[in-house]
Amino acid sequence: MKAVAPPPSQVPGGKQTLLSLKSAAQQCRACPLWERGTQTVFGEGQATARLVLVGEQPGNDEDLVGRPFVGPSGQLLDRALAEAGIERTDAYVTNVVKHFKWTGRGKRRLHSKPNVHEVNACFPWLEAELAALQPHVLFCLGATAAQAILGRDFRVTQSHGQLFPSSRFAPWVGATVHPSSVLRTEGDDERAQAMATFVDDLRQVARALTSAPEIHA
Ligand code: URA
Repeated sequence: MKAVAPPPSQVPGGKQTLLSLKSAAQQCRACPLWERGTQTVFGEGQATARLVLVGEQPGNDEDLVGRPFVGPSGQLLDRALAEAGIERTDAYVTNVVKHFKWTGRGKRRLHSKPNVHEVNACFPWLEAELAALQPHVLFCLGATAAQAILGRDFRVTQSHGQLFPSSRFAPWVGATVHPSSVLRTEGDDERAQAMATFVDDLRQVARALTSAPEIHA
């Protein structure tokens, strides 16, 4: 079935509560991904959270459970947050795309990267979440989220762990790698190093939550 634009009542506008946004997003038809996803996986966390973490899109587990970052990437994220001294319950966790995009291989559903149209179609939901939350720090997990928020030229490999002042989404915005890239790193030593770098980046976030971070132009 062809995607249809959401009726105006589904497009987030003005400042709405997270609960009303979550409920409206269940009906979103702004791109074709709703047809194959089990459900819209909206962000979750306290409305008072000063930190928002943004991933790419829900994975297989998240699609089935209906909550972000509950699968293997989420478990690694939880461990890294704890090591960095951040309680996951102090963060609001969401994704730039809120439906699982997948291709079938046998009985398995394999993650497929969302394209720019899908990211753009979903972006009003993230903007509405941020308008409701007004976080102090917005931190992207992986290149898809980072480029949607920080621009197409942003390179996570070069600028991970840095926090940039911003007047658009949050006073401080930055990015690190996606936790799935840590999981996929081959070799025990290399994986441990990737995890250590990921935790270091999150420590910068922890610092920014308690004091002004070092400024990057
Ligand atoms: N990967 C993401 O980017 N988001 C999730 O919620 C789960 C896996």
